[in-house]
Amino acid sequence: MPQQKTMLSYEESPDGVFDSSQSNCSLWNSSNPVKIPLCPIISPFLVGVKTPVVDLSIEWEDVFAKYDVVRCNGHLKPSSCQARQKVALIVPFRDRYGHLKVFLNHIHPFLMRQQLDYKIYLIDLDDDILFNKGLLLNVGFLESGKEYDYDCYIFHDVDLLPENDHNLYRCSDQPRHMSVAVDKFNYKLPYVSIFGGVSAMTKDQILFVNGFSNQFSGWGGEDDDMFNRLKFHNMTLMRSMDDVSTYKMLKHKQSHPNPKRFKLIKTGMERVKQDGVKNLQYEILKRNEFPLYTYIKITI
Ligand code: BGC
Repeated sequence: MPQQKTMLSYEESPDGVFDSSQSNCSLWNSSNPVKIPLCPIISPFLVGVKTPVVDLSIEWEDVFAKYDVVRCNGHLKPSSCQARQKVALIVPFRDRYGHLKVFLNHIHPFLMRQQLDYKIYLIDLDDDILFNKGLLLNVGFLESGKEYDYDCYIFHDVDLLPENDHNLYRCSDQPRHMSVAVDKFNYKLPYVSIFGGVSAMTKDQILFVNGFSNQFSGWGGEDDDMFNRLKFHNMTLMRSMDDVSTYKMLKHKQSHPNPKRFKLIKTGMERVKQDGVKNLQYEILKRNEFPLYTYIKITI
């Protein structure tokens, strides 16, 4: 009997649409029996500017069906060549399933065209606890690092859609701020030390600065604190050309900024050694392996 299609409304999670325990992950642990060549430095599949399609009416079933090739919990790697970097895309998340659908619909083909070996992780926090982006990014780094030897961690807001696939999702020998030109800010950097939106760091770079602060509850500041951490450790921030690093921001209600963030930013470097990835304690409440992403919900 054909399976009944379950229609979900725009803001609903895809829980129940797929049996998450049934994912076929043979790809994940297999080593390539035949040695395949390294992928070219610049992928031949890049198309340059590709305006994101913001189709708010798209159904979960259609997004999943469209990218059926990404069967293994959001993990994909090119089949004909060995990717130059293994990339974990860490998305801090709270109840924005409408944005998530649009994001996945855009980001998977974008990353595929770049011939990356990548996986997407969505990291959520217990609903009773105030959102804390820095803490969730730290958890994403720790959890993804337990299952694969990633070369690069990309910290990515769910509402930002890259507009040009020459914006390469890779790490460099210094931390990179990627969302340089966002439409909401008229494609201009709002201030020089901004590090929020989308950024890329290697494992060594993250460990060197002890990751993000876990102290920024509510909206704002954790990225400014990270900028200070980089400076404190004499690291140089890299930015790509602003004509390539352009992003569309999905519309949403502005969250209430944390009024304590300025004081926390000011005193951040006093805590840098104790406040970060190295001492972080949390408990995993839920872990779901969906075809297009892995969802992890934690509490502290
Ligand atoms: C906040 C940052 C944020 C930036 C841009 C600043 O005031 O502290 O966290 O990334 O605004 O929205």
